Amino acid sequence: MDKLRVLITREQIAAKVTEMAAQITADFAGEPVVLLGVLKGATIFLADLARQIKLDASFDFIAVSSYGKAKQQSGEVKLMKDVDQSVEGKNIILVEDILDTGLTLTYIKNMLLAHQPKALKVAALLDKVSRRTEPVSADYVGFVIPDEFVVGYGLDFAERYRNLPDVCVLESDSETG
Ligand code: IMP
Ligand code: MG
Repeated sequence: MDKLRVLITREQIAAKVTEMAAQITADFAGEPVVLLGVLKGATIFLADLARQIKLDASFDFIAVSSYGKAKQQSGEVKLMKDVDQSVEGKNIILVEDILDTGLTLTYIKNMLLAHQPKALKVAALLDKVSRRTEPVSADYVGFVIPDEFVVGYGLDFAERYRNLPDVCVLESDSETG
């Protein structure tokens, strides 16, 4: 059996997303941006963020291999779906649900930079700073969180829990006693 404990409430998320959108709007004032979401975890964050960004914006999505059914990751990143539109010469805001080791973001950033965007910034809702093994960070960070496995607001465990409105820690009964 899984147990869920609310870590970040929907109200806290909404307030933070508003702040992040205002910062992005100010930083890219007068310029068009592409909100590039990493499927599937970033979809809900992107949907909320996008509606508060007051810029000429378009959407695109990429997909990379992730945890699958385990909470541990293999260390290998694979591109499963590429961008639909060229990123060359564009202001790209990569929208990620969570930064953990940084392996995924490092892979994606290198891939995108090879195609020469005008600018590349990263917006991550959550950041497990203590888990980082790669020298990479986000330009816009919602919340720094402890090393706990979280679900909700787009984040999953084996494809479940993405629809929870709050970010919750997933605890198994065996771990908590
Ligand atoms: P990284 O490559 O280790 O930074 O891992 C990033 C990816 O791992 C994220 O995009 C998520 O898909 C997944 N991930 C890392 N931590 C969590 C978590 O606590 N809950 C759900 N997914 C996570
Ligand atoms: Mg993800």
